[in-house]
Amino acid sequence: MNKIIIAIDGFSSTGKSTVAKQLANYLGYIYVDTGAMYRAVTLYAMQKGLINKDDFNKEALIYQLPNINISFKFNEEKGFAEVYLNDKNVEKAIRTLEVSGFVSQVATLLEVRQKLVEQQHKMGKDKGIVMDGRDIGTVVFPEAELKLFMTASAEIRAKRRYEELIKRGDKISYEDVLKNVKERDFMDSNRKDSPLVKSKDAIEIDNSKLTLEEQFNKILQLAKMAI
Ligand code: C5P
Repeated sequence: MNKIIIAIDGFSSTGKSTVAKQLANYLGYIYVDTGAMYRAVTLYAMQKGLINKDDFNKEALIYQLPNINISFKFNEEKGFAEVYLNDKNVEKAIRTLEVSGFVSQVATLLEVRQKLVEQQHKMGKDKGIVMDGRDIGTVVFPEAELKLFMTASAEIRAKRRYEELIKRGDKISYEDVLKNVKERDFMDSNRKDSPLVKSKDAIEIDNSKLTLEEQFNKILQLAKMAI
């Protein structure tokens, strides 16, 4: 069967990764969560003390970029690839609200984007890939055969993310999650390099009122037509 590239972009917490994983499993494709890569770089910066509440030492992070190795390993039990930072599994550590609070600043750095986009290109060179992020259909794979742009209201997205974090045992408030979602939307849409914009040829999916099953079926139909 012909293998294609499926690019899924959209605002934070729109459920991109959920549908991307479902689709990749169904089609036997590789799934790549590019947000996890930006989060892993952010975690590295936090661990090295390069970023904290009042200060972000951008030059030091750029200087240390060659020391940052991000990889993915498939977890059979979970059914998707988990992210590793310098060979350490950081899948859980990158999902905190603290990392979410800094990641969009890290993602504005051109040098960080260049490094990660280069790696993303390599991962998609044989096609058969579902990649989600903010710039996949516009910058990483403008030639992708299927491009989706996911949206939902900020309140609905924050509620979903809040429930996810509470389930994990995090102690946070819904208001803080909503604030973070709105801040990231703003920063991601307004940055100079590779801002979050809907590619002209992307199909917009507003999933505010769709169940996971309805969303999956709709997107699977689109994928089948594109293959
Ligand atoms: O997808 P997720 O919400 O985990 O992404 C975290 C952050 O990483 C985004 O808010 C954005 O700032 C950045 N990002 C990006 N480009 C991508 C993927 C994520 O700038 N392709």
